[in-house]
Amino acid sequence: MPATAKQPEADSNPLRQSLPRAQAPEPCAVVLFGATGDLAHRKLVPALYNLARGGNLPNECAIVGFARRDWTDDDLRAEYQKVLEEEGGPDFQEIWPQFATRIVFSPGTFDDAEAYRKLKEKLEELDRTHGTRGNRIFYLAVSPEFFETIVNHLGEAGLIYERHQASPWSRVVIEKPFGHDLESARELSRDISRVLDERQLYRIDHYLGKETVQNILAFRFGNSIFEPIWNRRHVGAVQISVAEEVGMSGTRGAYYDTAGAIRDMVQNHMMQLLCLVAMEPPVDLSADAVRNEKVKVLQSLPRWKPEDVFRNVIRAQYTAGSIEGKEVPGYLEEKGVKPDSKTSPYVAMRLELNTWRWAGVPFFLRTGKRLPKRATEIAIQFRRPPTELFDPERDGHTGANQLVLRIQPNEGASLAFEAKIPGSRRRLQEVRMDFRYGTAFAVPPPEAYERLLLDVMLGDPTLFTRTDEVDSAWRFITTILDAWESPDASPPATYVAGSWGPPEADKLIEADGFTWRRL
Ligand code: BG6
Repeated sequence: MPATAKQPEADSNPLRQSLPRAQAPEPCAVVLFGATGDLAHRKLVPALYNLARGGNLPNECAIVGFARRDWTDDDLRAEYQKVLEEEGGPDFQEIWPQFATRIVFSPGTFDDAEAYRKLKEKLEELDRTHGTRGNRIFYLAVSPEFFETIVNHLGEAGLIYERHQASPWSRVVIEKPFGHDLESARELSRDISRVLDERQLYRIDHYLGKETVQNILAFRFGNSIFEPIWNRRHVGAVQISVAEEVGMSGTRGAYYDTAGAIRDMVQNHMMQLLCLVAMEPPVDLSADAVRNEKVKVLQSLPRWKPEDVFRNVIRAQYTAGSIEGKEVPGYLEEKGVKPDSKTSPYVAMRLELNTWRWAGVPFFLRTGKRLPKRATEIAIQFRRPPTELFDPERDGHTGANQLVLRIQPNEGASLAFEAKIPGSRRRLQEVRMDFRYGTAFAVPPPEAYERLLLDVMLGDPTLFTRTDEVDSAWRFITTILDAWESPDASPPATYVAGSWGPPEADKLIEADGFTWRRL
């Protein structure tokens, strides 16, 4: 039963159509710290290019690369041309020359005050030559240890405007991780707040930029049929899974080994998914109304003692195995990973939220690298009917209804329910109503970073995490980290790369009478 959607109104430009906003962004300069790094190459520059290609970037917009290289503007342009050429689309030759004129380079190291003075001069020049009107976005696509240094230097160089100044504006975008535990996150917040107001700070969690993640709110609150059953009376359990095939690619191992799945995925992306699934309806869709409700979910997370952590959280490392017929090394053999590391690229947990809506409903979260495939989904498992009119033995399948929100890939949603198999016998079978983005909408969804960059330009913080959200998420995660540090903690479990995780995680969910969904 495929769901169909009313097609959006025709627009000659499909890219513009996919990011329609009432407001157009104001002229501005986007300064990329870490301009030659991986994130800039893979995500940020393509996102800016696609915004330009779709007519969503203001004409008066300059992109300033800041990095420690002895480069000219032309060097950076040549570098970005290489990045974009492959996937720039059929109109690349047409779009690129104009896009290239927006790109300039500003050399320097992150701790060199003189480099910031020169950056300031460059930005003032761009205000004259490119019409950027004093508006600036500073994007910190750098390793977290530089966040504070860069923000302080920006402040000292006079590159951050007065806190309450509406125009021109300065905004700083910070990538994750924001701190590595509760204390360090609080310290970072304190330090940064000497220079920046919360309204000038945009903490990125790129999951919030995903179309399917934003759709959770539309699904829950744009329809009236789900809300009455979205609670402990009707929901038996919720599963949130983020599976990845990738291991430690390139030079990532060294960073990853300081983080593990708990900091890299659970503290941010998975907590955000949990918030959107479990939150109360906001009073409106303003940034603060939405974030007020999300933070309440985080505040209702359990206050665990170490023994609760040991019972409810499983961590694991993959051993050598194969994925799609290719041999892959174990976690401890990955480049940059310490051979005796306890850092775990897999985490599964069972938690309950202390709210009237959810008390007693188990939420099962799992994420891992080197699982058989890449898939992110949220499954709402409803309770079985209160009486057994239909008997599974006699009548066939009578599983509970499941609503699955597929975040990626095969973006969409499906509802599984029982139906009678046609014929003279009384036999039941599970069938599905399925909605797929690909077939329901003619327009491809924009990349998360496009949406998020556009929102920073528009000054809309709804899809960025607020300081109290970060704080509450860290409070919960730090309890887990502390328990793992204690002498009573068992070492990480293991699973073979290419399998669905350790047997301990299966036991965790089976104890409640459920099983992990096959993704
Ligand atoms: C990043 C993590 O934030 O998200 C990576 O640091 C992870 O380890 C990535 O692979 C997953 O993002 P996506 O969009 O591919 O699900």
